[in-house]
Amino acid sequence: MTKASSPIWHPFTQHAINPHSMHVDRAAGAYLFARHEVDGITVGEKRILDAISSWWVITHGHCHPKIQQAVMQQAQALDQVIFAGFTHEPAEKLAKGLMDLTNNVYDHVFYSDSGSTAVEVALKMAIGYWQHIDSPRHKIIAFDGGYHGDTFGTMSAGGRSVYNKIYEPYLFEVEHIPVPVEGNEGVALDALAKVLEDNKGNVAAFVFEPLVLGAGGMVMYSPDTLRAMEDVCRSHGVLLIADEVMTGFGRTGSVFACDQAELVPDIMCLSKGLTGGFLPMGATLCSAEVYQAFYHKDKAKMFFHSSSFTGNPLACAAANASLAIWKEEPVLDRIRDIAAGHAQAVRDLSAIKGVKNIRQKGTILALDIDVESEGYLSAIQPKLYDAFLDRGILLRPLGNCIYILPPYCVGADDLKLVYDEIGNVIELLSA
Ligand SMILES: Cc1ncc(COP(=O)(O)O)c(C=O)c1O
Repeated sequence: MTKASSPIWHPFTQHAINPHSMHVDRAAGAYLFARHEVDGITVGEKRILDAISSWWVITHGHCHPKIQQAVMQQAQALDQVIFAGFTHEPAEKLAKGLMDLTNNVYDHVFYSDSGSTAVEVALKMAIGYWQHIDSPRHKIIAFDGGYHGDTFGTMSAGGRSVYNKIYEPYLFEVEHIPVPVEGNEGVALDALAKVLEDNKGNVAAFVFEPLVLGAGGMVMYSPDTLRAMEDVCRSHGVLLIADEVMTGFGRTGSVFACDQAELVPDIMCLSKGLTGGFLPMGATLCSAEVYQAFYHKDKAKMFFHSSSFTGNPLACAAANASLAIWKEEPVLDRIRDIAAGHAQAVRDLSAIKGVKNIRQKGTILALDIDVESEGYLSAIQPKLYDAFLDRGILLRPLGNCIYILPPYCVGADDLKLVYDEIGNVIELLSA
């Protein structure tokens, strides 16, 4: 057994194959600056274009000065305070900001610290809602291939896959239905209708990633189909939980993916881009109806969920600064420019031999490479990853699926470089 150079156990990393991690010292805009090491000795700095927004979190760019400033200022006033029985200005301001951003269709927001917890909270709200109105419902519906996090609740909601295979016996039962990708809309809608019929009066909620299933392989479907699914669910009184953890804050071209379907879910889960990617935070927004089910003189009906860092003032300050950037800077124009660049690249890249299923939604461009071993553990993944890093680009393919999901400050030249290098690397590896 080889001794690792660090005691750190990294996420989604097989240390027996990848014992070393890139050491990043600083970041700015769309770039990471890592140590350039030769034989373990630092010989300089390596600039890496962060074409996946560091796991889809960075929106306006790394170390945005306005967010930096807000966090530094907050750090001088209030670091952390228990959030039960206490509140503070950054949290109150953020709550108002989120209500405004969602056109005041929500009544309340519950803070937590990650995407997984935002969804976990949503599931607990939905199940608790039905219990507290004395009409218990037990089933959850979700997409095959969906990903909602790595806690047991969110793994249960997620599709059964390599991500959760060894934990499967411990996951609670969820009704999974096919994703309504183009050509499969009818099948998915029929499956949804059947599950609802078979479990009449017992489905608590449908949890879904709107328009794009991220970790499941950047699988895309249309706003029209999402709206049709909403109609079917509504006719059965099912609560809709939109997991906008990845899609939220502009990724799909609109502030929220649900906007494109004119869909107002009962519960919306946010994280990743909420703080501009600066600090960890989750937020679960809910309707008045859901909140009221827990609102009671009976203490036993309170919402039994917390985490120590709920509503952390620094994270709230970062989120407030990020929301201000949305108002002060032409963020949607930047998103439109990226989307236009992607649209052209879709035409160019689709001509490359071995590229299939090329697709785009707003700032997300994805394509699959035609190889024998597909899926997350595809043998081509490490080759692609290394080849892109050698070229100074961070792309972390999901198996044989290469995708770009850049921060909105990315320049047109940098995007062109990414498109060109994707073409070069595919040609090189298939030669
Ligand atoms: C749609 C979706 N939901 C939830 C999560 C979990 O978020 P986190 O990793 O912050 O727990 C992710 C993470 O990628 C995600 O893409």
